[in-house]
Amino acid sequence: MSYLYDTIARYGDLIPLNCNLKYKIFEEGLKLFDDKWVQYNPRKKIARYGLSITSLDGNFSGIPDLDSINEYNRENNLKLDEPDFKTLTPLWPYVESVLSKFKNHLGRTHIIKMSAGGQFPSHRDHYDRELPTCRLFVPIYNCNPPYNYFILDNKVLNFEYGRLYFLNTAKEHIVFTSKQESMFIVANTILTEKSTDLILHNMLSS
Ligand SMILES: [Fe+2]
Repeated sequence: MSYLYDTIARYGDLIPLNCNLKYKIFEEGLKLFDDKWVQYNPRKKIARYGLSITSLDGNFSGIPDLDSINEYNRENNLKLDEPDFKTLTPLWPYVESVLSKFKNHLGRTHIIKMSAGGQFPSHRDHYDRELPTCRLFVPIYNCNPPYNYFILDNKVLNFEYGRLYFLNTAKEHIVFTSKQESMFIVANTILTEKSTDLILHNMLSS
C-alpha cells in the first residue's frame, strides 16, 4: 500500500536499520552454495550474477526470480510479482542473522554480485500508484567507491558493510561496479502494517 511506503520514505531515502549480517556464518553458506549462482537476467549480457534467498519453490534455478519478471510473465501469460517469491532456499540459515526480523514478510530476495563493468542502468524499481513492496538492502563486499557506485537521486551512497538498509528505490538510481567484485542482498519486503512497524521501530538513531 502506498501510504505504508510513504510512511517509511518520509524518514529518508537511505535508512539504516538495527540488523547486521554475521559474516562468519554467511561465508560458510557462500562456500556451500558456490555452484548455485546464475546469470542475473540472462536476457542481457551484463556481468551480474544472482543467488536466490527466496524463490517460487525454494530452489536455486533462478527461474524466474532472477530473470526479467516482466518478460517472463509476458511470455508465459502469468502475473508473477515480488510477493510471489517467498519460499526460502537452503541459503536462508546463512543470511538469517540480518533478515530474521523480516522472515515472514519477504518476497523476492537474493544476493547479487557484479564483476568490474557490471551495472544496473538508471531506473526506478516502482512506477505504480500502489506500492505493495519496498526494497531492503545489505551491502556485503565492495559496495562503496571506488569499487562500486550506488547513486540514488543523484547522490553517491556510502554504506556500512553488513547493515540492513531501507532504500527508496522509487527514486531514480544507477549502480555500477568499477573495480573489484561487489556483492549485496536485495530483499523485496511485502508492506503490511506489521512490516512497516518493523522498519520504523528498527531505525538507527544517529
Ligand atoms: Fe533498482
